[in-house]
Amino acid sequence: MKIAFQNENVTLWHGDCREWSGKADAVVTDPPYPGREDLFPTDAVWPVLRRLIPGTPALLFWPCLADFPCGVPDAVHVWHKSVPIHPRSEVGNVAGHQYERILSYGCGARCEVFRVAAVMPNFAACADELTPHPTQKPLALVGRLLERVKGATVLDPFCGSGTTLIAALETGRKAIGIEIDERWVEVARRRLERWHAQGRLSLTANDRIEARHG
Ligand SMILES: C[S@@+](CC[C@H](N)C(=O)[O-])C[C@H]1O[C@@H](n2cnc3c(N)ncnc32)[C@H](O)[C@@H]1O
Repeated sequence: MKIAFQNENVTLWHGDCREWSGKADAVVTDPPYPGREDLFPTDAVWPVLRRLIPGTPALLFWPCLADFPCGVPDAVHVWHKSVPIHPRSEVGNVAGHQYERILSYGCGARCEVFRVAAVMPNFAACADELTPHPTQKPLALVGRLLERVKGATVLDPFCGSGTTLIAALETGRKAIGIEIDERWVEVARRRLERWHAQGRLSLTANDRIEARHG
């Protein structure tokens, strides 16, 4: 494991999260989904979540309700991607892709639906935020999720382009991120540098969010 970026508030590791043995106050992560080995390696997902989450508040993007990695969650949130549907467009027309679930452990029992525009190529609303990472999550969504998490230091063991790290900084927390793929480490490192240079990332319409309490 190598440190790719570090200051008093954030540490970005380049390496395999199975090798990380530290501690954090909370885990907020978007692991590679089981069954999507074509996109990212997935062999670390179950062992790492089972080691890190029990006893630690956690929010977890997760595809299915049949198999929970760490027992039945206290709440299940829904991310409604608010993708504009155009009759002649492929975008947003696949119902299963319009929603994702977020499992909540130790962060309260209230379920929420978050309507936040997805970060997608050719989607002008997120042009300023878009990185080449294929499953980048919207900063505003992760920021709202973090409001539900207590604890000074947030860990994202599958941090991709670093969205959780930036959202943690924006909500006044410390962050630790781990990413195995050098390309995404470099993207996350550049985002962190830009955030520190500007005080924050410039936000766009994509960051507007509505939350409906369920
Ligand atoms: C779904 S993506 C996360 C995207 C992120 N939320 C964002 O907004 O950019 C999951 C990431 O986990 C990384 N990954 C897969 N196996 C890993 C491992 N063993 N250790 C660390 N990172 C890993 C993948 O390379 C991928 O970038």
